[in-house]
Amino acid sequence: MAESRSSAPIPRDLLPDTSVISADGRLSIGGCDVIELAERFGTPLFVYDEAQLQARCAEAAAAFDNGVAYASKAFLCRAMARLASDEGLCIDVASHGELHCALSAGVPAGRLVLHGNNKSVTELHAALDAGVGRIVVDGEDELDRLAALVSDRPVPQPVLVRVTPGVEAHTHEFVRTGQEDTKFGVSIASGAAARLIERVQGTEGLALVGLHAHIGSQVFDVGSFAEAARILGSFFAPLGLEELCIGGGLGVAYVAGESAPSITEWGRAVRAACAEVGIDPHVRITAEAGRSIVASAGITLYTVGVIKDLPGVRTYVAVDGGMSDNPRPVLYGSGYEAFLPRSVAAARTKAVRLVGKHCESGDVLVDDARLPADLAVGDIVCTPVTGAYGYSMASTYNRVGRPAVVFVRDGAATVVLRRESLDDLEALEPAEGTIGRVV
Ligand SMILES: Cc1ncc(COP(=O)(O)O)c(C=O)c1O
Repeated sequence: MAESRSSAPIPRDLLPDTSVISADGRLSIGGCDVIELAERFGTPLFVYDEAQLQARCAEAAAAFDNGVAYASKAFLCRAMARLASDEGLCIDVASHGELHCALSAGVPAGRLVLHGNNKSVTELHAALDAGVGRIVVDGEDELDRLAALVSDRPVPQPVLVRVTPGVEAHTHEFVRTGQEDTKFGVSIASGAAARLIERVQGTEGLALVGLHAHIGSQVFDVGSFAEAARILGSFFAPLGLEELCIGGGLGVAYVAGESAPSITEWGRAVRAACAEVGIDPHVRITAEAGRSIVASAGITLYTVGVIKDLPGVRTYVAVDGGMSDNPRPVLYGSGYEAFLPRSVAAARTKAVRLVGKHCESGDVLVDDARLPADLAVGDIVCTPVTGAYGYSMASTYNRVGRPAVVFVRDGAATVVLRRESLDDLEALEPAEGTIGRVV
């Protein structure tokens, strides 16, 4: 994790594409003044640059072949599913809930890909009933369940087999998946992949159309993808299948000094590696991009409630959200930046620990944040590059409702997810008076 210890203003390249800084230093995104958004919709608030989301989806659609997907686990709501689908992407769903959301957004079922390392019978049933385009088979036990459901299908269900190419992506242990020691997929090296493929090919009601691999997340070196594509490609080529999916995992810059390859560069590296190992040019080379599509399009706005100076120790700045809307720092030690959208160009000379409002000492958003010296209670503080795995991993810890999410474009803001209310938080409880009764 690269730490920002500089007092320089927030780097422009960590802000959404349509960011504009006014003459008096205020930030607007998509033509909307960010402080006004906080006043209008409250905080914490997720704000997404809709034009940037569209541009990244279009870039992914161009970088890979038909079948390339948006990995909806990064951030999903109906508006996002529709946007990605309208830009030509399939949607990768990894649970019944994600499948349901994409379908209710109107995404054609044939454009959905079902993932998961432990798909239930209910999930497989729902996917088959809807007519999803592809199911990614992750292992033998799952194939048993799937085979039992498809034996009498008049049209075989297209499937991919998820394999592990044995590539160690240089990333956090919890988000590495392409190596041998993983709960995902089946190993090429051990022969498990070949055995599963043979079984799928012999299963009535299934049509093997391709292979899939995902080497990990937050991968900055396109060389790791190229290496995976070469290993996969050599195994794939003799099988005569139509699709090779390289998964997702392209890294994004979160803090000053980091830089990441573009989706276009990622696609180019993968294609070159596939060509190198002799993959037929008619094979569809696909991917599932999540973070690289949504991360830097999104920011989070918070209101500062407490500034606690501990002389000789540090300054704590507490905001009205925290680990419930962004658990990544707690989960992975992920680094973020912070700045004041009222003074974007100001030097950030004050070193603080930006923390949340939850009852955990570990509830830290930015361990070593830099903010302008005139920071005051009531200020709106912004953490950029929070568009991926923030809302989608959000919880209601301490019964703090999840924030609202708005898409902004051309001066207009659209609420795509409203703020979770106290009533929402109570919605799962039995009605008063029925508690304790078995129904
Ligand atoms: C199978 C699969 N595909 C795609 C992704 C998306 O990865 P990212 O958001 O890093 O692009 C993931 C992330 O965990 C994944 O497990």
